[in-house]
Order: sequence, then structure tokens, then C-alpha cells
Amino acid sequence: MKKYIIKGGKKLSGTVKISGSKNVVLKAIVAACMTNETVTLENVPQISDVHYMLEMVKDFGGEIIQTQNTLKITVPEIKDIRLPLETAAKMRASSLFFAPFLLRNGSAEIPNPGGDRIGARRIDMHIDGLSKMGVSITTRDDGYFYASGDNIIGADYAFKKNTHTGTEQMILGAVMAKGETILSNCALEPEVDELIELLNLMGGNVKRENGRTIRIQGVEKLHGAKYTIKADRNEAVTFAIASALLGGSVWLTDVDSYLLREFIDEFRKAGGDVEENENHDLRFFITGKILPTNITTEIYPGFMTDWQGPWCVLMTQAEGESIIHETIYEDRFQYVYELKKMGAAIELFNPKVENPEEFYNFNYEDCTSETRHAIKIIGKVELTNAVLEMHDLRAGATVVLASLLAKGESVIYGIDQIERGYERFDERLKNLGADIEYINE
Ligand code: EPU
Repeated sequence: MKKYIIKGGKKLSGTVKISGSKNVVLKAIVAACMTNETVTLENVPQISDVHYMLEMVKDFGGEIIQTQNTLKITVPEIKDIRLPLETAAKMRASSLFFAPFLLRNGSAEIPNPGGDRIGARRIDMHIDGLSKMGVSITTRDDGYFYASGDNIIGADYAFKKNTHTGTEQMILGAVMAKGETILSNCALEPEVDELIELLNLMGGNVKRENGRTIRIQGVEKLHGAKYTIKADRNEAVTFAIASALLGGSVWLTDVDSYLLREFIDEFRKAGGDVEENENHDLRFFITGKILPTNITTEIYPGFMTDWQGPWCVLMTQAEGESIIHETIYEDRFQYVYELKKMGAAIELFNPKVENPEEFYNFNYEDCTSETRHAIKIIGKVELTNAVLEMHDLRAGATVVLASLLAKGESVIYGIDQIERGYERFDERLKNLGADIEYINE
């Protein structure tokens, strides 16, 4: 069984390169499957989600050459339009294979995707949107979507709520459809724009107009291209908070501060600051007291849902009462039970919200009487060691941060979760001075 053993309290210092974004590379791999020419991706993080995605691509006929952080993907033909249940169900991004399968082979058999255990994570808008483009989609009781459509046609589609991968699904579907597609109320997440950039390099004609409107002229075929994945803003925030909590002398390289501006605004409200050097490396630090904050997670450009777990660890060290209100996923506070084992004073509650069906991005009807959408963190509390479990990727980063700070030796299980999205996390933390051991026995 894999585990981390962390002895907390060590100061961190040095330089860490922020990896390419997980939530871009997974979609770039799908885009690469839309052509029979080679697509080269650079700055690819070596994480298990990429590994699983490539396993599936190889299974249906893709040829992969991988050297360090560069990937060359060639898919001469798609030999199998059924994704394997077990691998595909591990990742939400696997649902994006509808487009290459349908556009190249006319049918697709895709399992209802999994991903992190943070909510119901439906794909109803994906299915609805693809149906408007002439794709026929049915389900059976085996957990698969069965899609067919030889003639995918452009359509006008308005998303009823923000959906990051839903927007990507429709862009991928439309890029080689017949005619024009106009998507409105699209997600503004920068990862979506990286997918657009890559598809356009491959010969696509995708334009973001007026922010939330995206206009796509279908092209007959796409060709090979080379694209460098930009930095992962979630990984950057994880290291930024690690630095702030443990000495403030860690430089983050290869990350654009613009992507982190909402985080930086809140970080300053919490008493922190950021220094940018001539190479645009960033150093996050807090010199005085950490101040309590009141955060509501939001769609881009707001404070990201993925940042709230690490932020909660920071707030355990603030003097006073902080609030985090999660509006994107209905069940993203599983880490709270772990932090409580370490002595954190956190209460789950449901804030009063007018019209919750509209206010929340998730489907309010998926909630039970047990679901809680906010937490109150009472600080400052000295965290102590515990035996901990990672419940999902960002919750994994959260418990690692808490253990790095805590007094004593913590043991963390569930390492597969962190390996999904953080390249060599333990090794990079160790290089910064953390006392962390990875054990696989
Ligand atoms: N939703 C629906 N129906 C849909 C689509 C979405 O109800 O058809 C709901 C979801 O259940 C969720 C909310 O809408 O409650 C937001 O979903 P969205 O589609 O915007 O996000 P996602 O595809 O689930 C991606 C990232 C997440 C990141 C969010 C927000 C990928 C593979 N995942 O998720 O990343 O938190 O956008 O930016 O791109 C992570 O990296 O750990 C992670 C969870």
C-alpha cells in the first residue's frame, strides 16, 4: 500500500517549476485523436491521469512516443469506439472522446464518467448539446452512453449553466461538424481557451466572441500541430500556500501571475503578498498575522473551487473566523473530516441562499439533507499529526499541506489521488526542504 510519511514543521525554500496543466493536457490528448497526423504536446505533466488517458488511446489504435515531458500522438485510425469502463470511469475527461469517435467513425460508446468524488458530476448538458448537433444518444443499464451520427451538423446551443468540460465537449463536436455552431453562455475558464488555441493550430476555426459566446465554423479535417501546455493554476496555488505557511521563501517558476489574480487578491486580504522577479517567478509570503477571510468559490474569473481545500489550511492559521462557501460542486468538503483529526476547528453549515437552484452551479436536486455547502473555520489552531486519507485530488493536496505544517509525524493514505494530478509531488516538496517519505509496500 502506498503512503506518505510527513514530519511537519520544516521550513521550505528554493525553486519549484509549476507543471503543465492537467485540465488542459487531458483535452489536448482528445484533440490529438481528431486527426491522423501527429500532434506534439510539450510541457506535459507526468501524472497518472495522463497515463490512463494514453492507455485508452493506445487501446483504440493510437501510437504514442513519450520522452520526459513531451508527447507525440498519432492516431492513424480509430479501431475501437468503445472505451474500457474501468479506465474511462476514473476520469471525467474521458467523456470527451465522443467527438473523435463520432467524427471519424460515426459512433461512440462512452461510459458515464467518474473523476473526483466531489459530487454527482452529471454530463446532461454535454448530451443535450451533442443531441442538438444530430447525434443520437441512448443509454442502457450498463453505465454506457451509445452515440451514433454520421452527419454531425452545426447548431446553436446555449448552456443553461457554466460547464467547463461541457463547453469543451461542444467545441470538439463542432470543430469538424458541417456548418456553423454558435455556443452561448460558455465557460470562460482559461483551459477552454488553450483547447481552442490547439484546435486552431490544427486547422480548426474556433473563435471566442463577446466572452461567453463561441463561434465555430466546421472544417473538413484537422492536421498535426505542436503545442506547449501552459502552467497548472491549481498546482501553482498549492505551492503558493505551502510557501506562505512554511517560511515564504519558495519561488514558483513558469507560471503567469495573471492566471492567479483572484487568488492573489484574496491572499492579500489574508495579509499575504507576492513578489515577482525579473524572470516573472513568483514568491508568496505572509510576514505578519494571517487574517480571516470570507470566500465564495465561483466560475472563472472567480476564486476557483479547486483552491478552497488548500485555502482552508491557510485559514486554520488565521486569527478569527473564516468562511468558505462552495458553489460549483455539492460535495467538496470531505477533507474537513481529515483536518478535524488534526485539531482544526471547522463547522459545516448551509448558508441562507435565495433561489439555490439558480445560485449554485451544481444541480441542487442532487443534494440530500446531509449535504453542506459551506464551512466556518475558527483559528488560529495548532495542527497536530494524524493518520489521514486522501478522498480526491485537491483534498489530497489539502491534507499534505496540513501535514507539512502540523506538529509530529503524519501518515497519509490514498496516494493514488494525488498522483492523478501532481507530478512527483513528494520529490518536489522534498527538494524544497520538506520531510516527506513516499512508501510503497
Ligand atoms: N454539471 C452538470 N451537468 C453538466 C455539466 C456540469 O450538472 O452537463 C455540473 C457539475 O456536476 C458540477 C458543475 O456543473 O457540479 C461544474 O462542472 P463543470 O463541467 O464546469 O466542471 P467539470 O468538468 O466537472 C472541470 C475540471 C475540474 C474543475 C472544474 C471547474 C476537468 C477534467 N475538470 O470539471 O477539475 O474543478 O472544471 O473549473 O477539466 C480537478 O482538477 O481536480 C478538477 C475537479
